[in-house]
Amino acid sequence: MNDVPQKPEQAHPTLEWIGETDGYLRLIDQTKLPGQLVYLDCRDVQSVWDAIKRLSVRGAPAIGVAAAYGCVIAAQHGNFARGADYLATSRPTAVNLFWAIARMKSLQTTETTALLAEARRIHAEDAAMCRAIGQHAMKLIEPNAGVLTHCNAGALATSGIGTATAGMYLAHAAGTPFTVYADETRPLLQGARLTAWELGEAGVDVKLICDSMAAQLMHGKKINIVITGADRIAANGDVANKVGTYSVAIAAKYHHIPFYVAAPSSTFDIKCPTGDDIPIEQRNPSEVSNFSDTATAPPGTQVENPAFDVTPASLITGIITEHGLIQPVNKETVSRTIR
Ligand code: MRU
Repeated sequence: MNDVPQKPEQAHPTLEWIGETDGYLRLIDQTKLPGQLVYLDCRDVQSVWDAIKRLSVRGAPAIGVAAAYGCVIAAQHGNFARGADYLATSRPTAVNLFWAIARMKSLQTTETTALLAEARRIHAEDAAMCRAIGQHAMKLIEPNAGVLTHCNAGALATSGIGTATAGMYLAHAAGTPFTVYADETRPLLQGARLTAWELGEAGVDVKLICDSMAAQLMHGKKINIVITGADRIAANGDVANKVGTYSVAIAAKYHHIPFYVAAPSSTFDIKCPTGDDIPIEQRNPSEVSNFSDTATAPPGTQVENPAFDVTPASLITGIITEHGLIQPVNKETVSRTIR
């Protein structure tokens, strides 16, 4: 039961490079899930930028990998530096975007062979980090546990088996019975559209809930552990993740339920002292005032739409990284693991 299975890997690759130095980036268009599994081919920098901006590719690690390949595409068109800088303007919160672009720039070359090799390394390392996170996280999932997650920090958000979901995939493959409660994750429903879809496809027992139901389920003793992902982790361990994560953490603390964040080292930003220094993306008001193309609020209603919130380190039981568990979470413990 406790053996770590070598499988599963991604059933449907979130993104892949097709061809060699004259190739292109293919990604699942996540805006179409769960209705359609369709792929988007990006052959110029603008299409990579658009795919990141409109969330065709989303989730911090996947954004980073997409941007790394986007840099290769920029070099193919003879505008590496300008393309790389432009890609960095697509979304502000997930630090993996800036981390991957900085890594590509640090090669100090515009030569596509070297850039493609680096992008492929970033891609492969991301998959390996997911697996390592999973090996640590699966130990936290007790038989018959109720595991709450928010948004999609799954295979679709990474190059591998996800971050928050990595322990779930491995525990499931090892035969541990448990139930995942997936917050639907308003406003864009990454939990309903993506997490419920990918875990369901893998045969994991998953139940979808509205975001506002989580506290009631905690009160009813259906949740034993919370595991979420992260978009950026500050030096003191504060975590920016999909809006709604903070309320889940508060509810978990009140009910004495452990709250874990699973994230690779590429999601830490030690130059950011605290969560207050993390830029929070503000998205289009129509995401809140409409449900798909249908208006759900009176015309002209004023809207706030921050895409992320910050959970203070004091609410986080532990951060599961590829290097192991950071627990307790504070400036000292973070700096011991992440340099
Ligand atoms: O707006 P999104 O869908 O990109 O937000 C994604 C999240 O908040 C994820 O939880 C986070 O990026 C971790 S992905 C492993």
